[in-house]
Amino acid sequence: MKLVIGCDHGGLALKNVVVDYLNENGHEVLNMGCDTPDSVDYPVFSEAVCLAVMDGRAELGILICGTGIGMSMAANRHAGIRAALCHESFTARLSREHNDANVLCLGARVIGAGVALEIVRAWLTTDFAGGRHLRRIEMF
Ligand code: RB5
Repeated sequence: MKLVIGCDHGGLALKNVVVDYLNENGHEVLNMGCDTPDSVDYPVFSEAVCLAVMDGRAELGILICGTGIGMSMAANRHAGIRAALCHESFTARLSREHNDANVLCLGARVIGAGVALEIVRAWLTTDFAGGRHLRRIEMF
């Protein structure tokens, strides 16, 4: 799958873990940064990832900051982006199945790498169920 990923300084270490996991599992990963621990502004990276999803360069996007909150708030300002902030795999799975989430947000200061990879695995292996859920996401 073609994926796009971005982070701020708070999410950099976890992003590197997630990128390694995605590469090891055969995904094509477009990395939008950041790539140094210098303090940066998360909306810049949120926008870069969302634009890549919106214009079809990637099917799905992943955003990581300290809490995941800023990234998800910024991502959801973009038309056509449905960003889900998940701290465990149950909501990650349901965000795909019921909400057709096309961006996953993670909080690197909230969860560890093991849980993050469990979330990513669940999110990438769950399809949108459509039906009544399609009607609902078409309402916003
Ligand atoms: C950066 O310090 C921090 O505010 C950011 O990573 C994120 O948690 C914002 O929501």
